This record gives sequence, structure tokens and C-alpha cells, in this order.
Amino acid sequence: MLTEELVQMSQSYDKGRLLEGKVSLITGAAKGIGKAEVEAFAAAGAIIFANDIHRDELNETVSAVNDRHGAGTVTALPFDVANLDDCKAAVLRIHKKHSRLDVLVNNAGLMKDALIGTITPDLINAIYGANVFGSMHLLQLCAKIMMRHRSGSIINTSSIVGITGNPGQLVYSSTKGAIIAMTRTAAKELAPRGIRVNAIAPGMIDTDMMNSIGPKFLQKHIDNIPLGRLGRPEEIASAAVFLASDMASYITGHTLVVDGSVLV
Ligand SMILES: NC(=O)c1ccc[n+]([C@@H]2O[C@H](COP(=O)([O-])OP(=O)(O)OC[C@H]3O[C@@H](n4cnc5c(N)ncnc54)[C@H](O)[C@@H]3O)[C@@H](O)[C@H]2O)c1
Repeated sequence: MLTEELVQMSQSYDKGRLLEGKVSLITGAAKGIGKAEVEAFAAAGAIIFANDIHRDELNETVSAVNDRHGAGTVTALPFDVANLDDCKAAVLRIHKKHSRLDVLVNNAGLMKDALIGTITPDLINAIYGANVFGSMHLLQLCAKIMMRHRSGSIINTSSIVGITGNPGQLVYSSTKGAIIAMTRTAAKELAPRGIRVNAIAPGMIDTDMMNSIGPKFLQKHIDNIPLGRLGRPEEIASAAVFLASDMASYITGHTLVVDGSVLV
């Protein structure tokens, strides 16, 4: 192989700073997977806008990441992703500052269990608001900006229960199934505009959301994980960095399952 070709290949595989200078919006970033994604994106050289509905916790995360990676690496954008006006104002703010947006990570999510027969409209609205409507609002708003540069990467967050279903999670699992369908449709529609759209379907990841199911249920689930342990938030963040980067330049419409082999 020609040396020039090899140099070109090694440049595209330089893993040091995969997201150098990429303007990125990450939602649900105060804790858990979103917090790990902010840290991983910062380490990869991204310019980050971190969102969460909980302002104080978000500010703590943003300060900690800026202390490690330099002031101004991350900017806090507290708002409710279910609120379209809030989403518009946030995306406008990013556009005013950078005139571009390269990556959207729709990570914010809410999980509440309820058995069939006990599900209320308020519960449906709350979970669909955070998990589906928020992702759809931001996908549309961010795609409009990305279209102007004919490039961008959108990463949605599904779950393995969006593929398998799970008793007690009629609402939650259906939002995560909707995310997969939304990802496929958006990928097809936006591919000609240079925008890739993928989803990550985490298995059981060690965050407050997962630990809320209680130690007894948690152990039962861990017993069914071939790798024998919960996933770590940073293991989802690594998948997000990969999908956001040019390393994944030929991957779109995909749902990447990161679950320690539960689904196999
Ligand atoms: N932890 C897991 O095992 C697991 C498995 C599969 C999928 N997921 C998905 O991964 C994502 C992150 O989960 P996590 O485990 O880190 O959860 P988490 O509860 O630890 O963190 C979720 C964050 O989203 C924020 N959020 C919720 N609603 C919001 C809204 N309307 N607007 C803005 N922010 C909002 C919360 O304040 C919180 O900081 C979620 O979409 C979740 O459904 C998690």
C-alpha cells in the first residue's frame, strides 16, 4: 500500500481527540450516563453544551468538567427538553455563539414503572415528554442547523427494553421502541443532507435510574448478564464518542446495543 494512503488512514484513526472542536449538545447531563458523556466528549476535544432539568446538579457537573479540561469547555443549559420553547431558545443560543452544531446526544430520560391498569395520563405525558417529545424537538431543531453545513451526528438513547419489552414498563419500553423507529426514519430522511442518526440501546447501567429498582431486583437482573456485572456509564459514553466521530462516518440508522451480551 502506498505510504500516503497509510498516512491518510492513520489520520482518520487517530483516537486521541476524536471530537476536536465539534460543537455538541448533550441532554440529561447532570448525572449518570449524560455526565459520563460530557466527560468523555471533553476528553475527546469537543465544545459542549450540557443540558439538564436540574439546574444545581448540572452546574456542579459543568464546574467539575471545566476544572479538569479548562474553563469554557462546557456550558450549562438548564431546561426541560419536553418544552419546545425552551428547546428553541437553547438551540438558538448555541447557533448565535458558534453558527454551527455538529453533534446532538439525546440522553435525557425518565423511567417510572406502572402495571397495566394503573397507568395514568400524567405518567404517560411525563415519560413521553422527556423520552420521546424532547428527543423529537431537539432532533428537528438541531437537524435544521446541521443541514446548512451538510454534516452532523445525532445520537438518540433507547434501551434494550425498547426491543424486548419488560413487565411493568409499558410506557417506558414503548418510548424506547419509539426512539428506535425515530432513529431509522430520521437516518433515511437526513442521509442525503449529510447527517447521520444512530441510537444506543444500553442494557443495565450503574446509575441512579437503574439503582432505583432496589437491590433485590437488581441482583436478579445482574445474574442474567453474561459479562456478570452492570455496565458503567463511561462504557455508554465511549459508544457515544464513537458514533459522534468520523470513525462512524458510514454508520447511520443503527441501534448499537451496549448490554454485556444480555440480548444475544
Ligand atoms: N441506567 C440504565 O441502565 C439505562 C438503561 C437503558 C437506557 N437508559 C437511558 O439512558 C439515559 C440516561 O439514563 P441514566 O441511567 O443516566 O439516568 P439518570 O436518571 O441517572 O439521569 C437522567 C438525567 O436526565 C435528566 N432529565 C430527566 N428528564 C429531563 C427533562 N425533561 N429535561 C432535561 N433533563 C431531564 C435527569 O434530571 C437526570 O439528570 C436515559 O434516556 C435512560 O432511559 C439507561
